[in-house]
Amino acid sequence: MKKILITGACGFMGKTLRDCIKTYDDIEIAAGVDIAGNDENLTIFRTLENVTFPVDCLIDFSNPSLLGDVLSYAAKYKVPAVIATTGLSDEDKKHILILSETVPVFVSANMSMGINLICELLKQIAPVLYKSFDIEIIEKHHNRKLDAPSGTAIMLADTIRESVDEDFNYIYDRHAVRKKREKTDIGFSSIRGGTIVGEHDVLFAGDDEIITLSHTAMSRRIFANGALEAAKFIMGKQSGIYSMKELIKERLGK
Ligand SMILES: NC(=O)c1ccc[n+]([C@@H]2O[C@H](COP(=O)([O-])OP(=O)(O)OC[C@H]3O[C@@H](n4cnc5c(N)ncnc54)[C@H](O)[C@@H]3O)[C@@H](O)[C@H]2O)c1
Repeated sequence: MKKILITGACGFMGKTLRDCIKTYDDIEIAAGVDIAGNDENLTIFRTLENVTFPVDCLIDFSNPSLLGDVLSYAAKYKVPAVIATTGLSDEDKKHILILSETVPVFVSANMSMGINLICELLKQIAPVLYKSFDIEIIEKHHNRKLDAPSGTAIMLADTIRESVDEDFNYIYDRHAVRKKREKTDIGFSSIRGGTIVGEHDVLFAGDDEIITLSHTAMSRRIFANGALEAAKFIMGKQSGIYSMKELIKERLGK
């Protein structure tokens, strides 16, 4: 049985993950780390410095403020890491790349299979549409979400940007400047309210027609199960950076 350490164990995602792992017979939670931490069903450490033993894999659903400790722990004990926390800075991403030189690291701002399949579709349709259609991304999340736009919205835009030969500008706010949109803009709109788990629409708005790629997360279980599959995927892999793209490829036997 492989042992998983979960950081952010007492949060919404941490709790969902602990519930989902019960359906697996080859992985289990060794312990959790959470600053908010007490739980009668699991050993919870308040900081990663208190975790002085290795595990088979770490899954992080916490906050960017913990990333430094997550990377240090993974480097010290050579533990494969699944980083699911969003709102990471460019500096954070550089540190993740450095870790990936010595251990396998899986990073995805969205662990659901559905969103990652939408990315694959975007790679096919964006090169065909981007010259004549305006691209806008609308995302909706619960009222507790800290980052905006969502990591997933940025991941969708990055997928478009990387699939075409165009230098898009990301427009996060149209309030400050009064001017028409440019063809090379990708606009983001973030809605926050209630308990919305996560909705993303990518709009290609053209003359007299709109194409929308849409994804709705009905529960957090899709992200938790995706992260558990990611953990199973990277355990035993060589050092390097991995994403849902490689996992889907392996599953499809490509
Ligand atoms: N990649 C994905 O598919 C995906 C899906 C959902 C959420 N997320 C991201 O996962 C993260 C967690 O989401 P959530 O909804 O569970 O949030 P949450 O606020 O419910 O849980 C976060 C937990 O982390 C703990 N924590 C925060 N900072 C800490 C620190 N410095 N040390 C120790 N513990 C700390 C908090 O006490 C809390 O229990 C967010 O960044 C969110 O955007 C990613």
